[in-house]
Amino acid sequence: MGAMSWPSESELNVIRTKVAEMSGKDSKEVRIVVSPYRICPLGAHIDHQGGIVSAMTINKGILLGFVPSDDSQVLLQSGQFKGEVRFRVDEWLPRNTSSTKEECNWGNYARGALYALQKRGNHIKQGIVGFVCGTEGLDSSGLSSSAAVGVAYLLAFESANKLIISSAENIEYDRLIENEYLGLKNGILDQSAILLSSYGCLTCMNCKTKEHRLVRSPDLNGNHINGRKKQFSILLAFSGLKQALITNPGYNSRVAECREAARVLLQASGNEGLEPLLSNVEPEAYEEHKCKLDPNLAKRAEHYFSENKRVVKGVEAWARGNMEDFGKLISASGLSSIQNYESGCEPLIQLYEILVKAPGVYGARFSGAGFRGCCIAFVDADRALDAALFIWREYSKLQPKLASQIDDESMVHICDAGDCARII
Ligand code: GLA
Repeated sequence: MGAMSWPSESELNVIRTKVAEMSGKDSKEVRIVVSPYRICPLGAHIDHQGGIVSAMTINKGILLGFVPSDDSQVLLQSGQFKGEVRFRVDEWLPRNTSSTKEECNWGNYARGALYALQKRGNHIKQGIVGFVCGTEGLDSSGLSSSAAVGVAYLLAFESANKLIISSAENIEYDRLIENEYLGLKNGILDQSAILLSSYGCLTCMNCKTKEHRLVRSPDLNGNHINGRKKQFSILLAFSGLKQALITNPGYNSRVAECREAARVLLQASGNEGLEPLLSNVEPEAYEEHKCKLDPNLAKRAEHYFSENKRVVKGVEAWARGNMEDFGKLISASGLSSIQNYESGCEPLIQLYEILVKAPGVYGARFSGAGFRGCCIAFVDADRALDAALFIWREYSKLQPKLASQIDDESMVHICDAGDCARII
């Protein structure tokens, strides 16, 4: 089964050996958090407004090997970033104010996890010695690596301190890491997908009520079902652009525009007492008062209301196993991100347009917020290789410089769905 191909035993052994070296403990004592990346086929940019989103994890992500350190000291090394991170869990960590340069600050996610746990009254006494690494070539590309890392540290601290914490609480703790500690005004899509997903299902999350359900597709229960072959693979296509969301002002400014649109619509419909979130605006009130929005705000609101409808229809198509309809809605969502939400940039938009035309592709869109480098597609599993070749060839023609910065094998990854975050 696809979900089981990651992590491999050899990947796990490399991490066990590394942590054993760092801590002086036996490699059998090393625990490993497996924290997958997520994709969001439908429901982009609407989680922070309390919308309904759909998500699943893939069989790639973050691995964090650790042992409890026997005192309050935290010592971390990374497979991707240089240097060592050291701090103590019994010191109070005020909100992060340091520069956002990723290379120097990779330890902020661990500090943020401690901040969130402490802020919600958990008594953390035990530090960890740990080694964290992400799937090669996939960091900072829009696959929620920051939430996967945040969740990984939360689970490691909780395990080292024998705390039993529910997924709902961890969703909230990761929100604290991102919204408060790191200052990104994002919603709860990423960590919900990472903590709640289950192989074979689409996770459908109402970000206002926090209720979720796992929707099974009739055709995703293993590679063969009822004599039929596996229906789809997931393609990740990289543009060569990399930038962490917290270093890009685009994300938070779009969130502010959505809130302003909600404020105008709530005021126009006599509901100014409600929090300015688009989920607090009834669709009828939106239709009646949208003419009062200035053009940019009108586009943001149009994205929100049309995306909510696409999610509902898409989940129905998924449950029927109708990948064609599901895919068309994904591509329509991608178009709305470009035209209404106005995220993305030229190379990413070109990549999206190539993916939509690639052989066997059901549907495609930017991954995540669309402010950095990756697009995703659902593709007929039998045609995934042809599609990957087509994408590589066409993108190299349009963006030779960016394409030349990516290894040929890393430009398009063919993945499968994954499972939720866990400790092994
Ligand atoms: C990022 C954010 C999420 C969500 C997506 C866009 O991944 O972290 O909260 O808003 O972008 O859908």
